[in-house]
Amino acid sequence: MPAKLFSPFTIKDVTLKNRIVMSPMCMYSSHNEDGHVQNWHRTHYTSRAVGQVGLIIVEATAITPQGRISPQDLGIWSDDHVDGFQELVALGKEHGAKMGIQLAHAGRKAVLEGEILAPSALPFNEKMKTPKEMTKTDIADTVEAFKTGAERAAKAGFDVIEIHGAHGYLINEFLSPLSNKRSDEYGGSTENRYRLLREVIDAIKTVWNGPLLVRVSAHDYHEEGLTAEDYITFAEWMKEQDVDLIDVSSGAVVPAPIHVYPGYQVPYSETIKKGADISTGAVGLITSGIQAEEILQNDRADLVFLARELLRDPYWPRTAAKELGISIEAPKQYERGWV
Ligand SMILES: Cc1cc2nc3c(=O)[nH]c(=O)nc-3n(C[C@H](O)[C@H](O)[C@H](O)COP(=O)(O)O)c2cc1C
Repeated sequence: MPAKLFSPFTIKDVTLKNRIVMSPMCMYSSHNEDGHVQNWHRTHYTSRAVGQVGLIIVEATAITPQGRISPQDLGIWSDDHVDGFQELVALGKEHGAKMGIQLAHAGRKAVLEGEILAPSALPFNEKMKTPKEMTKTDIADTVEAFKTGAERAAKAGFDVIEIHGAHGYLINEFLSPLSNKRSDEYGGSTENRYRLLREVIDAIKTVWNGPLLVRVSAHDYHEEGLTAEDYITFAEWMKEQDVDLIDVSSGAVVPAPIHVYPGYQVPYSETIKKGADISTGAVGLITSGIQAEEILQNDRADLVFLARELLRDPYWPRTAAKELGISIEAPKQYERGWV
């Protein structure tokens, strides 16, 4: 039986050649602090496309300057950013990868000069800045910025958009009752805490009809926080809004110890996939072909996202194929050394 890892997967009208996704990873390499694509990005992402990764998701890309994690983050808050991404997308596609972008706002985790924003005026920890509680206008402006970010991503030719709703950044801060203490319609009930994400998805949908993914932190690792069961409800709502796939990560909305081991987040993917009947991606310490194949064959996820293993081995798809006893197509130029 052929490996599921190397079977195609279609989302809307985009077909990935395999189930291997390069998980978004901040490179903090926009060294002029203007959000622009640099040579590092061109080399880094293109190498994984040459390595036969099916879908490359470009790192957390800020929809506003204030929504950056650091001054060196990539940005998509200006029309001037489109050309750089257009080039990056073309480079990846030249080697058969589909290209995605993660649209992000860092919320209270921004490490920047000036004011930072969050649902409530609570710092992440004692070392970080106290954010300003967002006004309704701030919220409306942020939703609009996600929309214009998506519009620019479409202009750049991206195949896939992923909304960053995980790791304690802005959208996650609204979803979790640990960081959202608002008393208006954006806080309190589950429905209210979901409102920002609902508005962001709706706004993006007015300018984007391609594959839409949302990354979530499906466990807060805190007794008063959210678990994967709570995320079934959010996932059902996202499905109603025509989100195609939930990329299931966890943690980082509040400081909390996390017990980490191979595949530690896979059960959350499984819970959401089965609970909401929606496609999911699994991520977190997935490093071997056999491990990835087990996740897919047991329907615990539809895609596997790899981060650090792809830093160590940009040709991991080849490594995994060898481990599974199969051969995959090589870039023509590498055929003599690929087997
Ligand atoms: C250098 C680095 C940068 C990261 N940046 C992002 C990011 O921009 N967006 C995101 O959602 N996750 C980010 N992550 C998390 C990864 O996407 C991934 O979820 C995590 O590393 C677990 O997967 P792994 O065990 O395969 O590395 C980053 C991880 C690393 C190592």
